Amino acid sequence: MNNRLREIREHAMQMLQEAESLEKLNDARVALLGKKGELTAVLKSMKDISPEERPAFGQMVNETRAAIEQRIEETKARLEAKAREMQMEREVIDVTLPSSRTRTGHPHPSQIAREEVERIFIGMGYEVVEGPEIEYDEYNFTKLNIPANHPAKDEQDTFYINKDIVLRTQTSPVQARVMEKGKLPIRMISPGRVFRSDEVDATHSPSFHQIEGLVVDKNVTFADLKGTLEEFAKQMFGPETKTKFRPHHFPFTEPSAEVDVSCFKCGGKGCRFCKGSGWIEILGCGMVHPHVFEMCGIDPEEYTGFAFGLGLERIALLKYEIDDMRLLYENDYRFLKQF
Ligand code: DAH
Repeated sequence: MNNRLREIREHAMQMLQEAESLEKLNDARVALLGKKGELTAVLKSMKDISPEERPAFGQMVNETRAAIEQRIEETKARLEAKAREMQMEREVIDVTLPSSRTRTGHPHPSQIAREEVERIFIGMGYEVVEGPEIEYDEYNFTKLNIPANHPAKDEQDTFYINKDIVLRTQTSPVQARVMEKGKLPIRMISPGRVFRSDEVDATHSPSFHQIEGLVVDKNVTFADLKGTLEEFAKQMFGPETKTKFRPHHFPFTEPSAEVDVSCFKCGGKGCRFCKGSGWIEILGCGMVHPHVFEMCGIDPEEYTGFAFGLGLERIALLKYEIDDMRLLYENDYRFLKQF
């Protein structure tokens, strides 16, 4: 039996010496000490040994086992160190190599313009409100005093989802939604995407953005509307900017106007930019129509208000002197990074 133990021990040391990887080491450990291992087989044969010899033999088995276990630990430490070393070699970083640059995005000119408009109105005490892009026909048209036979409802302009639901053609329905909530006074702007069945060209897109504005309070007058939009135009396009209110018609305001600003390129003398007129149209506005107030549950005898709506892309094109709207939708980084 002694010889057998010596053999096992020698064989074990040789196996461990030859183990070149942690997997091989593990295989060796199982072969030597596992349930079906060589040493276990010897232990099982203890019953054949006379009781007097058994303690001494048992001790020898234990010593052999301890020696093998110790060598396994040593081998493991050696192999782990080697594996680490190889990993370090593999993963060496050459700090002198040029870095691969990660390109961060750039704010979109429409987004910059939107934030600028928001900043100006927030500064005047307005709240920023959002409304749904998929809207009831009733909010997009009826509650804004646009009756069923109005040309704005023409299928050519509007994307209908069914006869009651549309992709909103304007941000004005948010006016109705906010008024209906009944929390007065109101001082809000609502930026967002709108949709019209238009062909894409240099000044049109089937999807674009507007910013709606609404103020409702007691004693709000057209003078407040003028003062507010004049201040907005000065902050947006420069302190020299002049404003002109031209009578116009919108179904949900009365009286209504379109607002032109003096051309910030030529200062009003007339240039290519303002097509020689010295003025550039920027938005529509007016005093909230009493019908709209009534349909939204506000008493027009007690409250008055003004509203305005502007096209965000139009403002971005003007402010950044971009001559083709399509550039705003292509998202070419070389274009975007200029702003
Ligand atoms: N919703 C109008 C449009 O899309 C713009 C507009 C005009 C909004 C006058 C208003 C307003 O709030 O008072 O053409």
